[in-house]
Formats: sequence, C-alpha cells, structure tokens
Amino acid sequence: MTIAPRTPQIQSKLPKVGTTIFTVMSALAAEKNAVNLGQGFPDFACDPLLVDAVDQAMREGLNQYPPMAGVLPLREAVAAKIEALHGKRYSAADEITITAGATQAILTAILAIVRPGDEVIVLEPCYDSYIPNIELAGGSVVRVPLVPHSFRPDFDKIAAAITPRTRAILVNSPHNPSATIWSAEDMRKLEELLAPTDVFLISDEVYEHMVYDGRAHESAARFPGLAARAFVVSSFGKTYHVTGWKVGVVAAPAALTAEFRKVHQFNVFTVNTPVQHGLARYMAEPQRYLGLPAFYQAKRDLFRAGLAGTRFELLPSEGSFFQCVDISAVSDLPEAEFCQWLTTEIGVAAIPLSAFYADNFDQRVVRFCYAKEDATLRTALDRLARL
Ligand SMILES: Cc1ncc(COP(=O)(O)O)c(C=O)c1O
Repeated sequence: MTIAPRTPQIQSKLPKVGTTIFTVMSALAAEKNAVNLGQGFPDFACDPLLVDAVDQAMREGLNQYPPMAGVLPLREAVAAKIEALHGKRYSAADEITITAGATQAILTAILAIVRPGDEVIVLEPCYDSYIPNIELAGGSVVRVPLVPHSFRPDFDKIAAAITPRTRAILVNSPHNPSATIWSAEDMRKLEELLAPTDVFLISDEVYEHMVYDGRAHESAARFPGLAARAFVVSSFGKTYHVTGWKVGVVAAPAALTAEFRKVHQFNVFTVNTPVQHGLARYMAEPQRYLGLPAFYQAKRDLFRAGLAGTRFELLPSEGSFFQCVDISAVSDLPEAEFCQWLTTEIGVAAIPLSAFYADNFDQRVVRFCYAKEDATLRTALDRLARL
C-alpha cells in the first residue's frame, strides 16, 4: 500500500501576522541600492575589546550551559549598574534574569502573567512583537493611542482603559518608533494610576542609555510603586552595538521573577555562556555605557542638521536612535507608499509609522534610524537634500 503524504492544516494562532514592513523595506532597499535607514540596527562595528572579552571567555572554556537565570557575574554587574543609576537594589540571585534578547524577555513576561481573557494595554504606536505576544497568551489587546504627532501619553485615556480584567500594561521609553521619552512626571502619573490596581507593568527600556540633551532615563526602577509591579526589560544588543547577539535582561521583584523563570526555564532554559561572561567583564568600565548619549547625540545632531534644509517637519528625537519626520509638505502619498517611493526614487529607506498601529493609522509621519556610520548618514542626506 502506498501512503499518500499528508501535511495537516494549521489553524493559525496568529492569522493577522504576515511579512513585516521591516523585511519588505529592507528587501526593497537592497534591490534599489538605497541607503537603509529603515531597520533599527547599527551599520558600524562594536568595540573590539568586547569581542576580545567574549573570545577570551570561549578560550577559557566557558562554553557549557550556564545557570538557568544567567551567569552570576553578569547578573551582579546589572544589579550594580541599576543601583548606581537608579538607586534601586535588585538581588542578583532572585531578581535579575538574563534572556535571549528583550524580545524573549517580553514574551516570557507576558506568558508568565497573562491568562486567556485577560486584558493587556498597549500604547500605540508600539513595537511589533507586543500584540502577537499577548494574542499567543490568549489575552485581549486593549490599544490606547499616544497623542498623534506629539506621542505623549494621554493618562485620561489610559485610566479609561483600565478595567477589573486588566492584567498588565506595556510601556516603552525611550520610545520606538517616536523617539520620545517619558518624564519623571509621566512616570509618577503612571505610578498613581496603577497604585489602587493589581496591574503589572512591563517596562521596555531597551534604549535606556540613549537619552539626549542632558536628560535622565526615568526607569521604572526609580519609582517604588512601579518597581514593585514591574518587569524592567533591557537589551545588551542595543547598548553595545551587537543586536545580533540577542542577549537581554529582566529585573523584577522576587515573586515575579520566580514565575518568569518558570516560563524561561522551559522556553530557552539558558542563554549563550561566553557572551554573558564577555559582557560582564566589559561592563566593569561604566564609561562604556555612560558614553553612549554623547556618541548618539552627535549622530542625531548631524542627521537633524542635514534634514533641516528639506521640507520635512522634524519631530523631536529625545531618545533612542530614531528620527521621525512629518512628510505633509513633501508628498500627498500615504506613509507606506511614500516610503516605497522614497526608497525607489530617492534611494533612502524609511519606515511608515502606520506599521506600528494595528489599524495602520496614518498621520503622515515616517521614521529614520540614525544608528549608522557618519558616512552612511551623509550619503542619505545628500539624497534627501532634493526634497
Ligand atoms: C522597543 C523595542 N523593544 C524590544 C526590542 C527587541 O530587542 P532585542 O533585540 O534585544 O530582542 C526592540 C528592537 O528593535 C525595540 O525597538
């Protein structure tokens, strides 16, 4: 008897998810030989000393499974850094966990706390993994817009979205894609709002060291009422120009960390050992992260100065490595079509903000990434000067 091969049909858990705009725009940028200011990663090398530190760890034989929560020296380095910067002491043993990037950290936190039917608030525009993560956990996504164009939080709208079924809220500062940051007052308002509730906070702080003009990063760790309910998430990839290494970290109170680790343990179990040791040794010199604002602020200023001669309206870039512009004076096209036109005709790729809204809300704003060599930025600016 011959057996007819049969592939069972999958009923998609994520029917709305397709190829992301980032993949589409990067492919188009490559095809058209455009300068890719779309996807958010550096085109320059990391510090060779960081590579040496990882190389040394490998040669020392640090190549087997690390402890489930991450290697202790790295957890201790993170705990010491948070205490020095934000005055909050997390226990390296019970409150810090090393993850496979911030992406895995956020999914793991959501899987640990969200049950079918729970509501989770996201503030749009938002990073593209949040909504599918909530859906995978069986949660209901409650979308609350940041104020269009200014991207400030609207606390009345956030308050109105909180119900007895709200399990968590995701907050991201410095913010991708808008490049805005939350002030201490914003954080205090959130603290007040959540105080009478049992709502968890997932605080996505992957751009924590990219805050400009002398301002401070207002981590949830600084606000006791927030820290007590928060998973504070960061990413070594963003901080040390090694996005491909995919190593992140979560700081959370011991009770939250215990549940987080149950999911982490049976998801990835552990994360790359020599990279963790290398990062721990490299972090011993604080200037390596404290110097980041000056490094990126110079790129931001170069890029903004170049754009100032165009008809784009420049929105503020207070943090992260993004610059948003309003395109209204340049084109009547919707954001997504404008980005395709810009890539094809002008030779510079950007990302439409509509890609960060579940309903593709279009406010005539697109995002550039300036985490690029100065020469790359200058080439892009030469091309954009025509607009
Ligand atoms: C807001 C935000 N959160 C999380 C991530 C993911 O970080 P990682 O590469 O460490 O997974 C990114 C990456 O672009 C991001 O912009």
